[in-house]
Amino acid sequence: MKQQTIEIQFKEYDNLKNLIEDDVKLLLLAEKNLKNAYAPYSDFQVSSVCEMENGEMVVGTNQENAAYPSGLCAERVAIFSAKSQYPDQKVNKIVITTAVSNDTPFSPCGGCRQVLMEYEQSQNQPIEVILKSGDSKIWKFKSVADLLPFAFNGGTILKKG
Ligand code: THU
Repeated sequence: MKQQTIEIQFKEYDNLKNLIEDDVKLLLLAEKNLKNAYAPYSDFQVSSVCEMENGEMVVGTNQENAAYPSGLCAERVAIFSAKSQYPDQKVNKIVITTAVSNDTPFSPCGGCRQVLMEYEQSQNQPIEVILKSGDSKIWKFKSVADLLPFAFNGGTILKKG
């Protein structure tokens, strides 16, 4: 038996002041767009923005439904919309924010991590992930892979034959 350990690195910022201008712009846009979340059931508004390599910014908010599983998380709304509008553009960054303040930012659900991972793997380039919840600290990850270690890789299915 061999004990194995993995380490995940990310950057923590106390507030917007030390972030680069581009990240601040994306976070402010996401926060502005929180009002467009449709979350009458959970009252937990989430907002996300994808920045594409051509500089386009694509927004998304969580959209709920009376038949609960029919709703969709903000990150997935944003990235599905981004890749529908700009299928040939890589995604450089995604920011995810909520209005709910916490010391640390809320972390995206497993389903969203898997969806983000799909695009990171297919574009062969990391997608930065920036998280902020209300006035929480800001966490910045260099890659979706940092949030989803040991991810299932679509290449496994494609190569099976
Ligand atoms: N939600 C997101 O938008 N992103 C996540 O990563 C986790 C949860 C939404 C789904 C639902 O509308 C509400 O937050 C409460 O779970």
